[in-house]
Formats: sequence, C-alpha cells, structure tokens
Amino acid sequence: MTSVSIAPLDLQKAAKDHLWMHFTRMGGYDLADVPIIVRGDGCYLEDSNGKRYLDALAGLFSVNIGYSFGEEIGQAALEQMRELPFYTNWSYAHPRAIELASEIASLAPGDLNRVFFCSGGSEAVESAWKLARQYYAARGEKQLRGLVTPGARAGAQEPEVEHDAIVAAATTPQRRYKAVARHIAYHGTTMGALSINGIPALRTPFEPLVSEVRHVSNTNRYHRPAGETEEEFTRFLLDELEQAILAMGPDTVCLVHMEPVQNAGGCYTPPEGYWRGVREICNRYDILLSADEVITAFGRLGYWFGSERYDIRPDIVTMAKGLSSSYAAIGGVVATDKVMEPFLGASSMFSHGITFGGHPVMTAIALKNIEIMKRERIIEHVREHQDAFKATLAQLLDIPIVGDLRGTGFFYAIELVKDRDTRETFSDEECERLLRGFLSNALFDAGMICRADDRGDPVVQISPPLVAGQAEFDEITSILGDVLTEATTLMRA
Ligand SMILES: Cc1ncc(COP(=O)(O)O)c(C=O)c1O
Repeated sequence: MTSVSIAPLDLQKAAKDHLWMHFTRMGGYDLADVPIIVRGDGCYLEDSNGKRYLDALAGLFSVNIGYSFGEEIGQAALEQMRELPFYTNWSYAHPRAIELASEIASLAPGDLNRVFFCSGGSEAVESAWKLARQYYAARGEKQLRGLVTPGARAGAQEPEVEHDAIVAAATTPQRRYKAVARHIAYHGTTMGALSINGIPALRTPFEPLVSEVRHVSNTNRYHRPAGETEEEFTRFLLDELEQAILAMGPDTVCLVHMEPVQNAGGCYTPPEGYWRGVREICNRYDILLSADEVITAFGRLGYWFGSERYDIRPDIVTMAKGLSSSYAAIGGVVATDKVMEPFLGASSMFSHGITFGGHPVMTAIALKNIEIMKRERIIEHVREHQDAFKATLAQLLDIPIVGDLRGTGFFYAIELVKDRDTRETFSDEECERLLRGFLSNALFDAGMICRADDRGDPVVQISPPLVAGQAEFDEITSILGDVLTEATTLMRA
C-alpha cells in the first residue's frame, strides 16, 4: 500500500521501493539518490532539493514549447474534460480528433492528409509498419476484386469470375512484410518498433524479434574514409540500400523507415542528394517510404516537419513527442492519399486500433500546443536562432576531446574522441568510465541535463526546448566547456 501524501524524504524511499524507471540501472540507486524533478519553467527544471537545471534535452527531445505553458494547456485539458473526457476513434469520431487531424494535414507537406492517432512514438512506428504491411494486401485485394465482373457482384446469376487472372495474381508473390532501417537508429521499444531499431544492445535481450528487418548504413560521415566526396558518400549509401532491397527480394519489402536526421549515434544529417535517391529507390521497387519524425516534427529542425526541410516526400510520417510538446501522451501516423486509397473501399479497413488513440483530452492538448507554437512563432524562432546556436556550440571544438559537432536547427551532437587527428574513438571500457563514470553525473551536478550516449560512438546530445535563446546557448556551452575540459584531463590520466 502506498501512503496518500508523501513527504519529500518519503518520495525518495518510495521511488526506491516502488518505481521502476525506464532504461535505468536501478542498482545504481542503492546508495545514490533518485533524481526527483518537481517543477519546470521555460527551459529549466527544479528537483526536490530546490536545485535548478537547464534542460538541454527538452525532456526527451520533446518539450518543444518549454515548461511554462501548463496553465494555458491545463485550461484546454480542463475544458475538454468537462465537455467529453473520453471517447474512442474506433468507428466514431469526436471534434478534437477531427480538428487535430485537419490541423496536422494542413501543416504536413504534400498530400500527407490522413492521420491515425496513437499514444506515443513506439506505437506510431508499430502502426506505420502494420499499415505498410496491410497497404499492399489491401491494394492487392482491391485489384483482385476488380477482376470479378460487375455482373458477379449483382449476384443475380452464376458469378462470372476471371479465374486465370486470379490464379496468376495469387501465385505472383505473395506478401510484402519486410522493412529496411538504419544501423544505430532508435525507433522505440514495442516488438515491431524494436525490430526496426538498429541498436543491437536493445534488440538482443528480446530476440527472436519480428521478421524481417535489414539495417543499412546511416549517414555518419565522420568516420568515412578521408577524402571521400559528398557525392561518393551519397552513392555508397544509395548503392548499399538498393543492394539490401535486392537481396531481401524487392517484392517482399513494404517499408523503408528512417529519420530525416538520425538521433541515435548523434545527429547524422543526410549528405546532398541522399533523400532524393532514397525516394527514387522506393519508387523503383514500389516500397513505402516512412519518415520517422518522432523527434524532428514540430519545429526541432526549424520546420513543422523535417521531411519539408530535406524534401523527403515520404508516404508515411510517424510523430509523437513535439506534437503536444509532451504535455500529453499522443502520437500518430500521417499517410498520403495514395496510402489511404485502398482503405477507402466500402469493405476495406486498417485492422488496427488502440483504446487511447486520439483521446479527446490528448488531442485537445496537442491542438493547444500547435496554437501556442504558431502564436509564439516557435518555428520562426528556431530558424532565426539556429545559426547563433551552432556558432556558440562551435566554441567547444577547441577542447581536445571534442571531435565533431553536427546537427541542424535546435538538434546537435558532439562526438567525443580519444584522438582528434586520427578520429580514434574510445574502447567500451573507456566509454563506460567517460560517460557513466563521469559525464552524466558531472553535467547533472553542474546543473544541466543533456544526454551522454554511446549507442554508437560516444556523443553528448543537445536538444533544448525550442524557446531557448542566446542566454541558454551560452549557459549550455559554458557548462559543457568546463565539464568536457575536465573529461579531457580524466581520460588522459
Ligand atoms: C525517432 C524515434 N522514433 C520512435 C521513438 C519511440 O517513441 P516513444 O518513446 O514515444 O515510444 C523515439 C523515442 O525517442 C524516437 O526518437
């Protein structure tokens, strides 16, 4: 039994006794305190001891408007609670889900016009793969139905069916169910999304996973051969992607799923011509291209959708985090008219649903978030300040342990290296000592939250709320400067 009102001291004990934190070595808190965050404002958080932190990670790349809009968003949630606290999107609609779907369709590029809601990013990725799998089946069924002559549907006489055509269609393959994603990419934790994940350490404990995904190279150019041109790099990546599809059997692949800028591994931006080439390959083999915009949508790259920034022209986009600035648990998939088309038949449906998908309160919150983003000119703010952000962070390149600074918009990573000239990275043990043994705690102690990550090569990820300005850029850079200088000394000892 849990007591009703918990004093700060009891919160600490209760956290240790009852809370199972995500991706957390719980044993690490046997002796240390669990960090308990109790409030936030702007780009700042405060813990239960009254200590303040600059949140240079925007929660989890997600609190795009910062922490100061609780009052206004809370009011929208309250009004929705009074009007209609819950109803479902299963066969029914309600005003907020309709309004939010329309709003997203108006903000998304091209004819990404149809929105399927879910509760978060993993569910969005899961839904995208399921949608792609069923899309081809639905399209095929429609084509098969088209082979039945109109007289047959009337049912008045013996149906006249084009048997030969149906048999031929049934024996020409089969089903498209496979997906292609990229190494080190993070796409969530549910079994489907996990299978798409390109991080072996996350996948291995849960194998065997959903068949069948192949991972191709991501756009990390820092460790490519010296002297390779941008064009050669793009060519290499596209050839590899095409070869992977050919090896899998193009007729069995339904989905290519990639982020506009890959987060895990540290903000891998695409080389020139990459997305144009990926789109062409998907067209050539009739494969759906899905942009995972769980992080990049809603302003992170200075656009409503990162797909617009790189002219990706995806068939499907997955989104979550910034859709509500994480004031609500909501995600979604937005699909083009082409993807929707086979599902518009009278007896056709996407056989997928989630109780909380399109929840009235979550959709009301997301609508209010978008209203605030427009009113506060958040997208424009990112565009106007992104160069200053980059220039400020670039001061860190003077520190010997800092090898690379990469990213765009308000989305950056710093790669840490053992030797800047050779770009040699740290061993597993050194990473353990550097990241978990020192950096994470040192940054937190210095009053800043960002992520020291070694799912790929060791990086520090910086992704502040999109309301951050020069004062925050300076503070991030100053704290990182001190801590990374200390890290250099530590790793050379
Ligand atoms: C690109 C990407 N896709 C999917 C996910 C999974 O989202 P969620 O944690 O909301 O399930 C994440 C989470 O960080 C992500 O970054």
